[in-house]
Amino acid sequence: MGNKTFAIIKPDAVKNGHTGKIYDRVLTAGFKILSAKLMKMTLAQAEGFYAVHKERPFFGELTTFMSSGACMVLALEKENAVAGWRKTIGATNPEEADEGTIRKDFATSLGENAVHGSDSDENAEKEIGFFFTESELISNQ
Ligand code: CMP
Repeated sequence: MGNKTFAIIKPDAVKNGHTGKIYDRVLTAGFKILSAKLMKMTLAQAEGFYAVHKERPFFGELTTFMSSGACMVLALEKENAVAGWRKTIGATNPEEADEGTIRKDFATSLGENAVHGSDSDENAEKEIGFFFTESELISNQ
């Protein structure tokens, strides 16, 4: 199991003032933040990041939303990081998310679900590489 994952605090959560509270959940759950940046994705970046979903009916809605405002991208480190972060954020659909998870507490809908988390070690590597250079990852903290 890998020790890195990739997370996004999505535009809905940033706009609703939840960035600090979600940061706190990240640290309380035992993750080290290797790197983080506030950014506004272009539509092309959102389409590239979510290319795996390009045939899905919600692709346009998803990429328009993800490029609609500021978001925070983060590279996180912890033992078994992918599974750990997915447990911390809860199910994709906030209506199905467990009590105490980030999506249960901060997401408003399936589309605007507050946070993203990688679904595999392979995708975590790819997703971190999509937004961060190697030198931006601060591992000797
Ligand atoms: P995320 O973990 O960022 O990965 C893909 C995203 O697509 C997912 O979170 C949801 O926000 C979004 N998504 C999945 N299914 C739907 C849907 N049926 N309608 C709109 N958005 C969706």
